[in-house]
Amino acid sequence: MEKIIIKGGKELRGSVRVSGSKNAALPVIAAALLADGACRLKNVPKVKDIQTMCQMVEVLGGGTRREPDILVIDPCGFSCRPAPYDLVCTMRASVYVLAPLLSRFRKARVALPGGCAIGLRPLDQHLKGLEALGARVKMEHGYIEAEAAQVLHGAEIYLDVASVGATVNILLAAVLAKGRTVLDHAACEPEIVNLAGFLSAMGAKIQGAGTNRILIEGVKSLAPVVFQIIPDRIEAGTLAIAAAITRGDVLIEEFPRQHLSALEQKLSAAGIELQSESGSAVRVKCKSEELLPIDIVTLPYPGFPTDVQAQWMALMCRAAGRSVITESIWENRFMHVAELKRMGANIRIEGNNALVRGGGTLSGAQVMASDLRASAALILAGLVAEGQTSISRIYHLDRGYEKLEDKLAALGAEIRREPE
Ligand code: EPU
Repeated sequence: MEKIIIKGGKELRGSVRVSGSKNAALPVIAAALLADGACRLKNVPKVKDIQTMCQMVEVLGGGTRREPDILVIDPCGFSCRPAPYDLVCTMRASVYVLAPLLSRFRKARVALPGGCAIGLRPLDQHLKGLEALGARVKMEHGYIEAEAAQVLHGAEIYLDVASVGATVNILLAAVLAKGRTVLDHAACEPEIVNLAGFLSAMGAKIQGAGTNRILIEGVKSLAPVVFQIIPDRIEAGTLAIAAAITRGDVLIEEFPRQHLSALEQKLSAAGIELQSESGSAVRVKCKSEELLPIDIVTLPYPGFPTDVQAQWMALMCRAAGRSVITESIWENRFMHVAELKRMGANIRIEGNNALVRGGGTLSGAQVMASDLRASAALILAGLVAEGQTSISRIYHLDRGYEKLEDKLAALGAEIRREPE
């Protein structure tokens, strides 16, 4: 195991490039299993979760290989095998293989993931959608067993919650189903639009991705394509907050500004300016003397992203005054609070609200990462803490950030990785 050591106090300066989106690439890799040949994916980040998804593709008989800057997913050999617990429990997005298995073989056996550090994470909406499309689903021995007597058929489906994962599984099942599917209260996240763009490039007929109502007309087959994954809006947001918290001046290349308007408005209210430069580069710097306390509520897209909540909390620890951070997506996403408190933060939790009294100094301490975004928040806090911060269980960070410490070091941070 490894840990990250940071010596706080450096203003970040220079330029940095955002990697491809992990959460956009994961469903695209699963979707590539539906193609009639090998798809070539560009801008796929080199992170652990992508490796796990590639392992899953291989366990199911498919092929994966990395060429410079391209990830090839070859579904030739894809066969109806169980998706095992050891992979599903390390990464819940492995359940995205449920729909391709059902669609191609009318049968799927996928281990049921448990809860995780941020919540219970039920799959009822995924399963309800697949049942509406003609699958019979039961749970047995810790596995989801799904079977369809005939080819899946189109259906009208209403999601009780606008779940990203359920929207992915339903899209993947419906594109090759017979007839028309109407998915209401679908997730609108940019990662869904990216997936629909990939499927459409392969020949799928999809309308409305990015809105709450998606229409899918089933087609007979999907052709292999070359496809570019969108930049990672959560990494971009994390880097913007790194610039803001250190009162630095950073040019962020490949910044998906159109996907981050909620964060941008909150940053602006807090006294941080985002300026577009050439292409999709954005310069982040302070426009006021001090950082102002600003409340946020996490919500489905285009609301403030839950995946930036922990990082925002680190920022608010430095703001001059009190702010309220409300987590409305996950029931247990305040695990970073106890660790931030070890660094001297003044935070009180009341239900799903965190009341932050900012402005005090943070002091470097030994802390522990509990999940992916919590690790990012602790790194951000470490960048401005007095003295040394040591963050253990950093494997959480490696699931979703590509070389974050190298990027921060190149901007002037004193940060390194060491064995535990
Ligand atoms: N939910 C249900 N039933 C379901 C599915 C979800 O009640 O069948 C609930 C969940 O319990 C949660 C809410 O719906 O309260 C939203 O869950 P959703 O299904 O949208 O989340 P997800 O697909 O499991 C993805 C991201 C998460 C991100 C959420 C919300 C991936 C691989 N994961 O998860 O990303 O927090 O959407 O935006 O795309 C991360 O990257 O750190 C991360 C956790």
